[in-house]
Amino acid sequence: MRPILVTGALGQIGAELTPALRKAFGAARVIASDLPEAQSADGAYERLDCTQAEAVADLIGRQDVGAVYHLAAILSAIAEDRPQDAWRVNMDGLYNVLEAARRFGCKVFFPSSIAAFGPSTPRRHTPQTTIQRPTTIYGVTKVAGELLCDYYATRFGVDVRGLRLPGLVSWAAPPGGGTTDYAVEMFHSAARRRRYFCFLRPETRLDMMYMPDAIRAMIDLMEADPKRLRYANAYNVTAMSVTPREIAAEIRRHTSLFAVDYCVDPKRQAIADSWPESLDAEAAREDWGFSPRFGLADMTRDMLARLGAATGRFDDPVSSEAPNADAGIG
Ligand code: NAD
Ligand code: SER
Repeated sequence: MRPILVTGALGQIGAELTPALRKAFGAARVIASDLPEAQSADGAYERLDCTQAEAVADLIGRQDVGAVYHLAAILSAIAEDRPQDAWRVNMDGLYNVLEAARRFGCKVFFPSSIAAFGPSTPRRHTPQTTIQRPTTIYGVTKVAGELLCDYYATRFGVDVRGLRLPGLVSWAAPPGGGTTDYAVEMFHSAARRRRYFCFLRPETRLDMMYMPDAIRAMIDLMEADPKRLRYANAYNVTAMSVTPREIAAEIRRHTSLFAVDYCVDPKRQAIADSWPESLDAEAAREDWGFSPRFGLADMTRDMLARLGAATGRFDDPVSSEAPNADAGIG
């Protein structure tokens, strides 16, 4: 088997995808890469700026890479502050990876997003094939990315596969500046017994998925029989459709002192309001057996247990950081 390259490997997804790939295919076969000069203790690491076409081609050619999980990107909230950078990293980076994949014959995984939809898309049970007119620069790069992947698949025969991922909740690495980050931050606040100031309105409904389900979906899709994939590079996937208020209520089943205030950030609220409330993931189920294991209750239990274990504080009795009981509006 030829080596696997993970770009953007130090981010929220890469921090868990890289070890999962190493466990599945062998540590020696997985090369992590990202912007810092960091060294990975657990396997090969190379610094790679994916906007540098020659560097991308050099690494893929030199290491005889057979598959690229292309995670390097700028996420929705930061992208709205730096749209020119977002276009450069998200589009030039993908183009450079696809070009190298064409030249050296490798498979590519492309993570699209619920952001590939926009306000004119049906918001509930958003179909696999529907209107895609996003109003954020991040969403524009995701739709354009899906189309570019389609083009490389049909024109050059590159085997590109992808998921339209919902907001991902995880404990191993912090989220990288997205609109769904609130969900992760809420768990960290709960584990530290701190009040959480949520930047979205309490009833903002969005799709979410727990990271273990997302990692399994990525690897399953990349290993699936290509003949069964009708929508190879952009499958809708989701595990739950939830609001900040519902997540807070589930957390309070475990720690009644948890409280949330809502301090709405208009920029991120506008982004969230332009995204679907719930995706239809039937095509992923039918074509390659997508089947998430974690709903809101299981995810909450696991997140709190893991953060509690990591910080050693979750089981503490009421600390000085505990919010006033009447402060919770969540
Ligand atoms: P992240 O922000 O946590 O990590 C992205 C990584 O990319 C960072 O480590 C960053 O250093 C790296 N990076 C940025 N610019 C780079 C460049 N020029 N060259 C190389 N590396 C660069 O993001 P993530 O949450 O891990 O997301 C990974 C991918 O999945 C992205 O394409 C994102 O759009 C997509 N996605 C994520 C989510 C989510 O909820 N996390 C949901 C949908 C889609
Ligand atoms: N979680 C991502 C974001 O909020 C969705 O792609 O940007």
